[in-house]
Amino acid sequence: MSKLRVGVVYGGRSGEHEVSLISAQSVMDALDQNKYTIIPMKIRRDGRWEGPSIQADPAGNPNLDVVFPVLHGPYGEDGTIQGLLEMANLPYVGAGVAASAAAMDKVLMRRLFAQTGLPLLPWDTFLHYEWQEGAAEIKARLARDLGFPMFVKPANLGSSVGISKVKSVAELDAAVELALAYDRKVVVEQGLIGAREVECSVLGHNKPQASVPGEIVPAHEFYDYQAKYHNEDSRLIIPAPLDEKQVEQIQDLAVRAFQAVDCSGMGRVDFFLDQQGKVFVNEINTIPGFTQISMYPKLWEHSGLPYSRLLDRLIEIALEKHRERQMLRTNIS
Ligand SMILES: Nc1ncnc2c1ncn2[C@@H]1O[C@H](COP(=O)(O)OP(=O)(O)O)[C@@H](O)[C@H]1O
Ligand SMILES: [Mg+2]
Repeated sequence: MSKLRVGVVYGGRSGEHEVSLISAQSVMDALDQNKYTIIPMKIRRDGRWEGPSIQADPAGNPNLDVVFPVLHGPYGEDGTIQGLLEMANLPYVGAGVAASAAAMDKVLMRRLFAQTGLPLLPWDTFLHYEWQEGAAEIKARLARDLGFPMFVKPANLGSSVGISKVKSVAELDAAVELALAYDRKVVVEQGLIGAREVECSVLGHNKPQASVPGEIVPAHEFYDYQAKYHNEDSRLIIPAPLDEKQVEQIQDLAVRAFQAVDCSGMGRVDFFLDQQGKVFVNEINTIPGFTQISMYPKLWEHSGLPYSRLLDRLIEIALEKHRERQMLRTNIS
């Protein structure tokens, strides 16, 4: 049997360009060379592509059999590349257009989670122009409904960029201005004190499955960009020290969060546990960090699925999903 040609797309225009390079290198190192021809497809910071065209040649022969997008954040994890690959009719790993876009937007994601009945911390949202027209009312509303500390976040970003922990009204203006520098839409959330951060990996398409949960112990006051990528002291504890009931609850919520945004392939669902052990869903990441030491693959490894087998599974799911789509009627007669 001939080898599958796997295009690994990485880099990209997002602020998480560097993280993507590291994730993609791990993926390319671990893809089984007996099964796959690995085709690196780097997107430079300015948006220019290296590597073969995603289009078939003039005779209709594709250059690629499947694409593995390893792009984090906007322009990659948000449905944009997924849309391009749909247009080219290429199978690709991970969530489709709608799920990618919804999961990248902290407001849309929360609305879908809320509609599914998932436990969320109290939150609020407003747009840039609303802040310009009535910051005083918004501040009063936030202080009344959420209290301090609160977390102020741009709606569409990742890696903790633009996020502030706000401990008093006096700090609110600067936090909102920072978030508004990144997005026209802001999310503000009640802050938990002494929260535990637990994450669970989900894999599959029609019947997704959850891994054992893991816990993050951030080196900083919160899991900010520095703590995520530069500080060696942030630790992962796998499996997370939880009782059996909590594990079951988290796995159930993780699968439901995955389905709430109509995710496919992979998704890492992140939770907070308050000091009483109450569980809240924080977010789903549709292209989680993917180095050998990242939480998503580590959790699968501990659940009995080693890194390169996980890549095989993700590619199988991509092909299965594509076949499923091809079976659907596209004509109207
Ligand atoms: N409501 C909250 N209570 C306590 N800590 C929070 C809260 N929201 C965010 N944090 C901290 O900020 C980090 C980044 O927030 P998150 O919403 O996960 O953004 P990102 O999408 O950038 O990862 C979290 O990992 C956590 O450490
Ligand atoms: Mg996060």
